[in-house]
Amino acid sequence: MISEPLTDLSTTRLFAQRLARLVQPGDFIALRGGLGAGKTTFARFLISALMGEETVVPSPTYTIVQTYNAGDLEIFHFDLYRIETPDELEELGWDDTYNGLSLVEWPQHADDRLPRNRLDIEFSTSTESRTATLVGHGEYWQSRINEL
Ligand SMILES: Nc1ncnc2c1ncn2[C@@H]1O[C@H](COP(=O)(O)OP(=O)(O)O)[C@@H](O)[C@H]1O
Ligand SMILES: [Mg+2]
Repeated sequence: MISEPLTDLSTTRLFAQRLARLVQPGDFIALRGGLGAGKTTFARFLISALMGEETVVPSPTYTIVQTYNAGDLEIFHFDLYRIETPDELEELGWDDTYNGLSLVEWPQHADDRLPRNRLDIEFSTSTESRTATLVGHGEYWQSRINEL
């Protein structure tokens, strides 16, 4: 487990840039935390780091998924807040993401369709501070977050 203080937006950007250097096709990153915790902000910085700063990254709140192509890497940015059952995931192309990078807000709504090998990032806020807590699930992520 790794704890990252996210003091301000530029700290979140730097953290996203560090993580961008590690990501590989097939990676799954679950972005946890309540409304306003900073999940979309982080996903935006990560996508910009991979795609280029000029990339427009709309929140997937209404579309549920937004996709990007960063060279050979396909990126899937999901916000599952509005799905009612995990059965809806199939239609959203959930099973076609295995070769790309998945960034998933409200991952708990995917229930047992969450992959076992994944990185969980929990965003938390208090009046004083913001923190991201990283937990690697599976050997692969456990060893990789130490390279961060
Ligand atoms: N590290 C940070 N420092 C200050 N403000 C932040 C930080 N991260 C996010 N925010 C702000 O918090 C608000 C909510 O962020 P957002 O990413 O939309 O949350 P979520 O997707 O978790 O609901 C936005 O106004 C965003 O600019
Ligand atoms: Mg969001």
